[in-house]
Amino acid sequence: MQNTNDIILKAINKSYQKGDNTVVVHDDFNLTIKSGEFVALMGPSGLGKSTLLHLMGGLDQPTQGEVLIGGQRIDNLPQKKLTQWRAENIGFIFQSHHLLPVLTAQGNVELPLALTPLNRKQRKQHASMALQLVSMSERADHYPKELSGGQEQRVAIARAIVSDPKILLCDEPTGNLDRKTADEILALLAKLNSDSGKTIVMVTHDHKAAEYASRVINLESYILSQNNSLSKNEELLQNIEPEVDDISIGASS
Ligand SMILES: Nc1ncnc2c1ncn2[C@@H]1O[C@H](COP(=O)(O)OP(=O)(O)OP(=O)(O)O)[C@@H](O)[C@H]1O
Ligand SMILES: [Mg+2]
Repeated sequence: MQNTNDIILKAINKSYQKGDNTVVVHDDFNLTIKSGEFVALMGPSGLGKSTLLHLMGGLDQPTQGEVLIGGQRIDNLPQKKLTQWRAENIGFIFQSHHLLPVLTAQGNVELPLALTPLNRKQRKQHASMALQLVSMSERADHYPKELSGGQEQRVAIARAIVSDPKILLCDEPTGNLDRKTADEILALLAKLNSDSGKTIVMVTHDHKAAEYASRVINLESYILSQNNSLSKNEELLQNIEPEVDDISIGASS
């Protein structure tokens, strides 16, 4: 049965038109991420890892194919519905935290709740809870410039989880952090996965970061293996009408 959280990319083609040239980033790409998985997506620069995250979060649409989340197609939702769906279901965490400098940690975390029916008091409560989850309650009144890089990333994580989304999409979330701070952030993501059941897809170039995941996908070998299994399927199809000799093998046993 389809779980409410499963992410399915089905026969995805993603291409860009550059003058007379078509740049094909993904062609007939298929991937299923199960609800509750913590997936690390690795691979060479320019191979289309961020593109996949953007497709999963409805920040970008495929040229062809379908993006299904919990059985619902999101690639063809009208913009207004998509924005609402994203606000309820997806938390994004990027390499650069993109916190607004004019707002405190608390203000930054409250911001995504503006899209929800919560009133001011409820928004404050939810943001405080999210800050508590990332151990940043004591810095709630601080502005981003008054925080360390790791603290800023914690606030960005609080902002991503404040609306209690089922899915967290992280693009190199520890790319700007030192090893120790990176490990703290990764442990926090692992905890959100194991304790709160968040499905996490994390793009990373860091092998140590990938160790926190329950599944590591190397995009390069994954695409190769998909192509190989396609050609195997073609072989199988060719063998559907067996030679007379092949039939006799079964008959003689
Ligand atoms: N708007 C665009 N127009 C044309 N090509 C694009 C556009 N956006 C992305 N691309 C191309 O798509 C490909 C995949 O980009 P993407 O950002 O997904 O790669 P990536 O695997 O995340 O790389 P990195 O590890 O460097 O972040 C790249 O070759 C890039 O040049
Ligand atoms: Mg990228």
